[in-house]
Amino acid sequence: MTGSAGKLRALDGYVADSCYPSQFHQSFQPSWTDWNLERRGLAAPRTGRKPFKLVDLGCGDAHGLLLTAASHPEGQFVGIDAAPEHIARGHELAVAAGLTNVELRCADFRRARHFADESADYVTAQGVLAWVSPQNRSRLLDLAARWLRPGGAFTLGYNACPGWGRLAPFQKLVHALAQSASGTSSQRFTAALNRIRGDGMLPSEFWEWFDAQTDRHPPEYFAHEYLNDHWNPCWSSDVVSGMVQRGFAYVGQAIAVRLREDLYLKPEWRQTLATIGDSPTRELATDLLADTWYPGWIATVDGVPAPILRANYLFRGVPVPAGEHVVTMRFQPASLRTGLLVTAVAVVGLLLLLLVGLLLRRGKAGKKQVG
Ligand SMILES: C[S@@+](CC[C@H](N)C(=O)[O-])C[C@H]1O[C@@H](n2cnc3c(N)ncnc32)[C@H](O)[C@@H]1O
Repeated sequence: MTGSAGKLRALDGYVADSCYPSQFHQSFQPSWTDWNLERRGLAAPRTGRKPFKLVDLGCGDAHGLLLTAASHPEGQFVGIDAAPEHIARGHELAVAAGLTNVELRCADFRRARHFADESADYVTAQGVLAWVSPQNRSRLLDLAARWLRPGGAFTLGYNACPGWGRLAPFQKLVHALAQSASGTSSQRFTAALNRIRGDGMLPSEFWEWFDAQTDRHPPEYFAHEYLNDHWNPCWSSDVVSGMVQRGFAYVGQAIAVRLREDLYLKPEWRQTLATIGDSPTRELATDLLADTWYPGWIATVDGVPAPILRANYLFRGVPVPAGEHVVTMRFQPASLRTGLLVTAVAVVGLLLLLLVGLLLRRGKAGKKQVG
């Protein structure tokens, strides 16, 4: 722990004075990966409950990996992390849970290359790529390519642009102010945050968003998210290119919100994307078109609909005339409106069917009486 102002304990610029909070990621579960491949007509790395190997790069305290290992006794699991505290906590959890199919190794990506032997059916790296130095980013992708067997699947979760890119001004500021604060990384983050808030450096919309985050994450999360020296959200085209260069064939995004293109892309956008043959460029264009930070928000000024403009990259802005006015903002994306419309049509249809059924029964009852 660092008690006074000075350099924070870090591993190649990655915060290392506290543990990253335990996480579980659906996105690297073997069944989820298999299903994502199969629904695109591709072969999954395993069939049924055959033995397999899964490697988690930058596994943190391996909480998610251990849960996966516990539910897949037929699998063999390897977790790699550079922070000894993470690996120690993972070992403790594995022993407490009586797991024998997990191997956790304390190693950075450079050293871990000695263990990588083209034996893994699945390799994953969640929440690492956008927080480490360019050199470690490159090492991470090299390692995944080296560890994965032909026909295996690599899943990668990272902070992506354009969405996360809009937080760059905040990250730069909080990171810079935290350098001159004292205490642990969490204490420095809080001190820097209080300064930014107290001095009114960011508009109220930012705090609305940020304060909702503090309800969702434990305090250590924020230092790990914003105080790394190399925090740098990635463009999907760069990531996909990097993977293609290392021999990967890019398949697509394996997150639930991207399962059906028609739910997040207009028909004309889908047509445009279909004309882009190069996978990195198509992925970049998809991310830009599907960027829902702005579309879907509806604003009113004194109850009258008002246009929403993009302000300072990160925020939504509404032009308001001089004087006192009431501005409201609601998030109502087209998909939600379509969903409500479909539900309304279904409910009306159901009521009509009930009514017809009731009338027919009444007609039959009437006939019996007459006969
Ligand atoms: C944001 S945490 C993500 C942890 C885990 N994957 C998760 O999503 O819960 C990033 C992890 O990468 C590890 N890490 C950072 N730089 C590394 C490096 N050069 N080699 C290996 N692990 C590294 C950190 O110790 C940390 O556990």
